[in-house]
Amino acid sequence: MLKNIVKMDNLTNDEVYSLVKRGLELKNGEKPILRNDIYVANLFFENSTRTKHSFEIAEHKLGLNVINFETSTSSINKGESLYDTCKTLESLGCNLLVIRHSENEYYNRLKNLSIPIISGGDGSGEHPSQCLLDIMTIYEHFGIIEGLSVLIVGDIKNSRVARSNYNMLTRLGANVRFSCPDIFRDDTLGEVVDFDEVIDEIDVCMLLRVQHERHEGDIEFSKEEYNKNYGLSVERYNKLKENAIVMHPAPINRGVEIIDELVEAEQSLIFKQMTNGMYMRQAMLEKVISDNKL
Ligand code: CP
Repeated sequence: MLKNIVKMDNLTNDEVYSLVKRGLELKNGEKPILRNDIYVANLFFENSTRTKHSFEIAEHKLGLNVINFETSTSSINKGESLYDTCKTLESLGCNLLVIRHSENEYYNRLKNLSIPIISGGDGSGEHPSQCLLDIMTIYEHFGIIEGLSVLIVGDIKNSRVARSNYNMLTRLGANVRFSCPDIFRDDTLGEVVDFDEVIDEIDVCMLLRVQHERHEGDIEFSKEEYNKNYGLSVERYNKLKENAIVMHPAPINRGVEIIDELVEAEQSLIFKQMTNGMYMRQAMLEKVISDNKL
C-alpha cells in the first residue's frame, strides 16, 4: 500500500519524532540523501508562498527533478479532472506528487494512483507539513512536547492548521486549548478559554489568520475590535512567561492577529517556523521516498 502523508493520522508518534529529529539534523548541517533519478510534481490549486516554495527548495536540495505544475496554463482549464491530471503526471514518469487543494480530503479521489502524495493542505481539513514544522519548532525550543500548555487563537473553525495541531499535539501529550470569537468556534475540538485568563500560564501562543476566503459571505468585523479581543498586543505579550513562544503559520494580517512591532519580537518564532519548514519538508520527502522504496 502507498505510504502518503496527507493527514496526521498517517503518522505514528514515533514517526513524528523521527521526522522532527531528521529535520533538526538537516538544519544542523547533516547531508541529505540525494536522489537525482526522482521526479516530483508540485500541484498547488490554492495560493501559497511558504509551503510551495519551501517544498520546491527542499526538493532541489535533495537533488530531485522538480515539475512546477501551473494550474492557470494547465488542461484543468479545459475541464480535466484532478484525478486525470494526477494520473497523467504519473504516466509521464512522476514518482511523487505534492498537492494543495481547496477540497477537504481531495486525496480520497486519488486512491487509484500508484505514486505517493504529500499534502500541502486540503481545504479546512489538515495541513500536515505545517503541523510537523510547528512541532519541530516547539521541540527545538523546549526539548519536549508532553506537558506543554498550548493556546491556539483565531479562526479555528476554518483552519486546517488548528485541526492538525490539535490532533497531533494532544496525541503527544500537550494540553491544547482555544480562544476565538463564537463565529470561529469548532466544538469538535478542545476547550475554549478566555485569552486574558490564560495568557500568563501558557507555553505556546499560536495565532491563526482570519481566513476570509473560507467564510461563506464575508464576515464583517473591525480589525481594531478583533485585535483588542483576540490579537497579540504589547500588554498581552508582556504577560507571557519568560520562556513562552509566539507562533503563527503566516501569512500574517499585521494589526489583526498580532501588532506589527511584535511580529519579530524576541519571543516570536514566526520566521523561524518558516526556516524550519524547509528542513521539515526535506525530511518528509526523504521519508516518503524511502517508505515507498522509490
Ligand atoms: N503557512 C502556509 O501554509 O503558508 P502558505 O499559504 O503561504 O503556503
